Amino acid sequence: MPDTLTITDNRTGKTYEIPIEFNTVRAMDFRQMKVDESDFGMMTYDPAFMNTASVKSRITYIDGDKGILQYRGYPIEQLAENSTSFLEVAYLLLHGDLPNTKQLDEWRTNIKLHTFVHENIKKLMEAFRYDAHPMGMFISTISALSTFYPEAKDVLKPEVRRKQIYRLIGKVPTIAAFAYRHSKGMPYVYPDNELTYAGNFLNMMFKIGETRYKPHPVLEHALTVLFILHADHEQNCSTNTMRSIGSSHIDPFSACAGAAAALWGPLHGGANEAVLRMLDEIGSKSKVPEIIKDVKEGKRKLMGFGHRVYKNYDPRAKVIKKLAYEVFEVTGKNPKLDLALELERIALEDDYFVKRKLYPNVDFYSGLIYEAMGFPMDFFPVLFAIPRTAGWLAHWEEHLMDPEQKIARPRQIYLGPTERKWIPLDQRK
Ligand code: CMC
Repeated sequence: MPDTLTITDNRTGKTYEIPIEFNTVRAMDFRQMKVDESDFGMMTYDPAFMNTASVKSRITYIDGDKGILQYRGYPIEQLAENSTSFLEVAYLLLHGDLPNTKQLDEWRTNIKLHTFVHENIKKLMEAFRYDAHPMGMFISTISALSTFYPEAKDVLKPEVRRKQIYRLIGKVPTIAAFAYRHSKGMPYVYPDNELTYAGNFLNMMFKIGETRYKPHPVLEHALTVLFILHADHEQNCSTNTMRSIGSSHIDPFSACAGAAAALWGPLHGGANEAVLRMLDEIGSKSKVPEIIKDVKEGKRKLMGFGHRVYKNYDPRAKVIKKLAYEVFEVTGKNPKLDLALELERIALEDDYFVKRKLYPNVDFYSGLIYEAMGFPMDFFPVLFAIPRTAGWLAHWEEHLMDPEQKIARPRQIYLGPTERKWIPLDQRK
């Protein structure tokens, strides 16, 4: 059986044979289909990239029907269960393989050398209002880093890229924690490089009067797992943004700021907050049947349910549900847990949800954990952006190194007016 597609253009009667590779045809192969020589040629139209692969990638694999998520071939469940630190997984995403002891030590040292920020960054952050949204502060500050490291624009030099990767992964927790401390009016806490990536982040967030902050091991572990689960998710909206901005060869700080802005949107990184707001609104178990009725009548959505890709279950949700119980052992149970469980139980039994393959996604439980750990709701997208920075950078570098890629520049179907004559102001109706 030939790996080709035969297409007949009924406008001209001409037949074309197009190669199929990886179960995909190339959109550029359609350009040869023309009505006459002056014709531009046929394009493909795919708003929201519903069925268009824009890259060949070797980083993250998802099979939505089977509920599979793998980073560089390693199942997410194994990484969550066995990884000793978030940086080990970040190394995997960026290098393609798990590090050996020496590689991990070097990687850790290089990242830790870049956890501090220039003192002017502190001053910059102090200029924000006391009630500034932490994600707005985070995005602006990441972007400002490009002015501190002008050499970062040499994106085609591997050693320059490497340095910015250390800087970004090293500094995002510091900037995130400074944004939180600013909103609380509390003094900033400098990084403690003796601690793990997650442990140091907790230190910069929550240290008050202790000489040395000691993170609770269960909470430190939980945050490490949450960071691992959120580190990458192939061509999602923010990663596509990172690739698209990066394709202009701008420095990675500017590209990361753009990716973080995409992540902030309520359709992307904001769903866990929406789940908590929904649980607050529902209030008690007795109201669950009424809510389910509204959902079935199309009056509202059940936040934290459903996924564009996962149609069986979200493998991250399974890991998180287990983790929630470990965290609640330490923090005390989040009072919203029982309500969430009841909602899940009723929804999973209901025909409406079964038929549409709607299951709890990663966001159904993550917000409950974050809240129990003391993170405010508006900080949730920042917690997502910290680990996702590693994923963004892996895709950014892969994109730059891909000889098939060029500056991202989609086509359009122009439906506006055809050429017309300019009318002087006093003659316009
Ligand atoms: N509650 C009730 N009904 C739903 C829900 C929901 N959460 N999600 C989908 N449906 C229904 C939808 O109304 C449609 O029904 P019908 O066929 O009768 O018109 C059917 O299920 C298919 O939905 P869809 O809108 O075609 O699915 P989509 O792939 O476009 O949307 C989604 C995916 C995640 C945007 C959507 O499920 C949703 O809005 N969920 C709630 C928000 C949420 O939890 N988002 C977090 C996603 S996980 C984070 C991440 O990985 O980045």
